[in-house]
Amino acid sequence: MKKTLIAYFSLEHSEPVGITHEVALDIQKLTDGDLFRIEPVDPYPETFKEVNKEAALKKRENIRPRLKRYLDNLDGYQTVFLAYPNYWGTMPMEVFAFVESLDFTGKKVYPICTHEGSGLGYSVIDLKNMIGESVLGEALALEKSQIASGGGSLRKYIEGIFDD
Ligand SMILES: Cc1cc2nc3c(=O)[nH]c(=O)nc-3n(C[C@H](O)[C@H](O)[C@H](O)COP(=O)(O)O)c2cc1C
Repeated sequence: MKKTLIAYFSLEHSEPVGITHEVALDIQKLTDGDLFRIEPVDPYPETFKEVNKEAALKKRENIRPRLKRYLDNLDGYQTVFLAYPNYWGTMPMEVFAFVESLDFTGKKVYPICTHEGSGLGYSVIDLKNMIGESVLGEALALEKSQIASGGGSLRKYIEGIFDD
């Protein structure tokens, strides 16, 4: 059987587990997929002010941060969930680095963006430019406050994907 990959980025300091990490764990429960954490070699600073500054700089300079781990390829995976927080209107640059490191030909990628009001931003447009429209499945935006209060939209979204 073809496996599912759940690749995610989540900032981990201020809470025991970041909200996108929680979403990734929920996807794992629903799909029995493999988890892969996208994480920079150089960790983000401790304070949110500094995190904001560093993320803005990485975006402005179009940086591809070096990651702690990469996948050699996506062999055996058919479906890839890509979960990330909205950073300045798109994905964190670490997610760009991850996506650019792989060949997604023949796969289906489902973007899931956690946010605090901006929705998907232009993350899906950026993904289209990187891996092409045919590879992309329907995207889901999850507002942080609604995830915390336990909205059922993730389950519905995933059931919709596997019902097709
Ligand atoms: C550097 C930075 C930039 C952000 N930019 C946006 C943004 O442009 N729009 C938005 O709705 N939320 C923005 N957020 C909020 C995050 O998307 C939101 O808190 C997300 O759910 C955090 O996920 P995490 O806990 O897994 O790291 C930003 C947060 C950070 C740290």
